[in-house]
Amino acid sequence: MKKIGLSIVTLCLLFACTSPKQELAKAQHYNEPYRPQIHFSPETNWMNDPNGMVLYDGEYHLFYQYYPDSTVWGPMHWGHAVSTNMVHWEHLPIALYPDELGYIFSGSAVIDWNNTTGFQKDGEHPPMVAMFTHHLAEGEKAGRDDYQVQSLAYSLDKGRTWAKYEGNPVIPNPGIKDFRDPKAFWHEETQRWIVIFAALDRVRIYSSANLIDWTFESSFGETYGGHGGVWECPDLFKLKVEGTDEEKWVMLLSINPGGANGGSATQYFIGDFDGHSFTAEQPEEAIKWLDHGKDNYAGVTWADIPETDGRRLFIGWMSNWEYGQVVPTEKWRSAMTLPRSLHLIKKENDYVVASRPVKELESIEEKTVQILENNTVVAEEVETLGIPIKTEVVFDLKNATADKFGVELINGLGEKYLIGYDRAREQFFSDRTASGKTDFEERFAKNLHPSPYSTNADDLNLTIYIDKSSVEVFVNDGEFVMTNSVFPNEDFNQAAIFMTGGDITVKSLSNTKLKSIW
Ligand code: FRU
Repeated sequence: MKKIGLSIVTLCLLFACTSPKQELAKAQHYNEPYRPQIHFSPETNWMNDPNGMVLYDGEYHLFYQYYPDSTVWGPMHWGHAVSTNMVHWEHLPIALYPDELGYIFSGSAVIDWNNTTGFQKDGEHPPMVAMFTHHLAEGEKAGRDDYQVQSLAYSLDKGRTWAKYEGNPVIPNPGIKDFRDPKAFWHEETQRWIVIFAALDRVRIYSSANLIDWTFESSFGETYGGHGGVWECPDLFKLKVEGTDEEKWVMLLSINPGGANGGSATQYFIGDFDGHSFTAEQPEEAIKWLDHGKDNYAGVTWADIPETDGRRLFIGWMSNWEYGQVVPTEKWRSAMTLPRSLHLIKKENDYVVASRPVKELESIEEKTVQILENNTVVAEEVETLGIPIKTEVVFDLKNATADKFGVELINGLGEKYLIGYDRAREQFFSDRTASGKTDFEERFAKNLHPSPYSTNADDLNLTIYIDKSSVEVFVNDGEFVMTNSVFPNEDFNQAAIFMTGGDITVKSLSNTKLKSIW
């Protein structure tokens, strides 16, 4: 295998003037081994799915599945954080605690602008209404099949304090064991609320005038997509086909197990929604994956993004149920993906949902250093990467003779993580078998299967965000994405371009140092 190394980059960091005490506090805070520097993670203890994402009064709310008493999953609460840019986060107190109806499982939040619920008596803010699943652990233990129901809670003070609706549940369980993760939204065309949630390996859709009284409309999924596990955390929204006025409905749907690489993953369906039922416009057996890595699960999109912005903003849980509870972090477990905007693109006769890092991430960019340019080929040399970092590589696909090529991240211990493209097979591959700590769960390093990707573009453009314990690769403007966690025993501080069976030209390679968000 031929390797091309990269020149050394020295980066200047600007230090703000702070007292020694402040410096110490800062140094201790969020500086533990593997602590993500550009991703949201809870201060302590266990986190899984993102929940209740809604924008209100300039604040992006992020609630999340949280167990405050341990670093493994347990009785679920909704943790809470807010941000003005989805990049820098302020932790807020726990929003929802378990109660007599059970744990607080995943769900969504909306702003009830017209007070259809009647929850607003007076006061300046419309109700922020959370719809979530109550999970009754005792019911599950007793072998009942109706232990998950849909319930409401509301806040009249911008999400700071919450009251549960006293008439909970609003959707009782008809006898379906897995019956959860409601995503509610206002359906403009029929002027009423719609909720979609998972029921075993299908989704169900209900409608309501007031978020309280719900009518069953339809179910979807019996013959579509992957069925290797339970369906969880659906989302349903409209997207414009980029560059046209055509609109399609997109359904996101997480599945566990049954992901292409083993364990948890998110698929999507393209089609139409008429306010009653969803009709897929794709072959029944087609499975479209939102992300081809192992660590992007249960992701959904923000509610109430104004039309003037127009983006569909997404965040996912950057972990996998195969090993999420045993990854080698001590004080806390897991992080969210980078926030992304979703775009519908037409590729030949197919539709693809592309994911792109949000532009707000530019606010943490420091200096960009151009390392290779104009087809430069350099000798064996390596480069210092200060993590977190964004690396952009443009490969010349049209003149390539190499059968495989890609980027390898390496550290001083010889540990490495590899991302590559196989031209003949038109597949991306990635390998974390030698990436550092991997033996905490045998499926962590295995099962990173190659994923199909073809393009007619002249170039293959990789934007790679490297954080302390994750690598996110966005290919050709997000048409193909791979999110994977890694636990090297030292930071990956070097990168090399590799190729086999011929040559590949690097048209450009640059590094942009990123500032920690904490
Ligand atoms: C998905 C999930 C959801 C459920 C939650 C429980 O990761 O299993 O279906 O609501 O996690 O924490």
